[in-house]
Amino acid sequence: MNLKYTSPRGTKDVLPEETAKWRYIKTVARQVLNSFGYEEIIAPMFEHTDLFTRGIGETSDIVTKEMYTFLDKKGRSLTLRPEGTAGVVRAYLQNGLYTLPAPVKLFYIGSMFRYERPQAGRYREHVQVGVEAFGSDSAYLDAEVISAVVTIFTKLGLTGLTTQLNSIGCKECRPKYTEFLREHLIKNNSGLCENCKVRAEKNPLRILDCKEESCKKIVNEGKLSKMSEYLCGNCVSHFDGLKDGLKILKVNYKLNDSLVRGFDYYTGTVFEVHSEKLGAQTAIMGGGRYNNLVDEFGGEKTPAVGFGFGLERLVSVIDALEIKLPVENTLDLFIVHLGFSAMKKALELAAELRVSGKRVQMVYEEKNIKSQMKTADALKSGLVAIIGDNELRDGVVTLKNMVNGSQKQVKFENLKTELGG
Ligand code: HAM
Repeated sequence: MNLKYTSPRGTKDVLPEETAKWRYIKTVARQVLNSFGYEEIIAPMFEHTDLFTRGIGETSDIVTKEMYTFLDKKGRSLTLRPEGTAGVVRAYLQNGLYTLPAPVKLFYIGSMFRYERPQAGRYREHVQVGVEAFGSDSAYLDAEVISAVVTIFTKLGLTGLTTQLNSIGCKECRPKYTEFLREHLIKNNSGLCENCKVRAEKNPLRILDCKEESCKKIVNEGKLSKMSEYLCGNCVSHFDGLKDGLKILKVNYKLNDSLVRGFDYYTGTVFEVHSEKLGAQTAIMGGGRYNNLVDEFGGEKTPAVGFGFGLERLVSVIDALEIKLPVENTLDLFIVHLGFSAMKKALELAAELRVSGKRVQMVYEEKNIKSQMKTADALKSGLVAIIGDNELRDGVVTLKNMVNGSQKQVKFENLKTELGG
């Protein structure tokens, strides 16, 4: 074959065997999130570029390097969403959802686009399940948000996960810590990677999760991961409330003073869930509190908290753990037909059975019985109905159970009942 086109770098085709898993995961996620009171929102896949530049932060990696930005035919700058929070905050304000009783709990499932360097678990388009809860600053809501995602992962059978937790402080206390970092980093600037040299000036917090060995060394030797020592009284008691909430909800966690996350909108609580089964990209989920974004977008001051997890990474953990999800991919019936009139009858019967929700397949050419049985086998159909000349004459099918080999004759009109329809 002379393949003329291949998919763009960093994208992934999700094939039927895997879409069944995705469907199952989405169903579990929807059920769990509904039980926590979340309702689904579908926001556009592209927004005005400014929304992300302002919301995510002008110096963040996503805004400086990773956005798919383009001009439309009227010269407006638009961007494919790199994440879901900014768009949902806009939708919350634009549609007056703040008039609903707080907390307003929303969830979404959709593609995000980031021009990242592709590697295992890192794509240029990924699908995220995300939640955003608006209108409460309670640390117990943070705990419940974390518990919701842990519940989803537990229902899917995941093990070997670690929930990491940190507080990155608020407008009052964080500047003192970033100033300490800035001063230290500017003095020890020579060992920093090129990115962190810029970060030292503009956003020193981000150095804490730089993956470059030389930067890690500066952070370790300078004992720089210590936001906890700078937290103000309010942030300390909020963080204590979160730990208390997690205890009540029986969620295990690990404190990680280096956890800072890649978006400027976070305030206070940040968290990630990591799996030992993922390679370099060990986070399956990330989130946190963002108490300033709603008013930065023009609304009343409204505290908010949320998370997102990627389906691609989740499925690779599920596969690595060899978890067999209960995905139904098998047919209810395959109809084998011998002769043109039998094919027409098969077409008619298949249509009738599908009305009652049965999954029925057949081939649309006149093929011999061996070839059709082979197809039925490949499609893993539990039952095969055979229609030949005798069956047509008697108004029956020969119904063969492919598991135990037994067969019997069933009248056309009784086939639906026989299949439990
Ligand atoms: P994030 O940590 O950037 O957070 O992404 C959330 C999750 O999406 C990650 O933990 C990972 O599972 C998945 N993910 C991210 N980038 C990629 C990629 N390039 N390839 C594959 N999977 C990826 C956010 O996006 C925040 N909006 C989450 C949030 C919601 N915070 C508050 N509310």
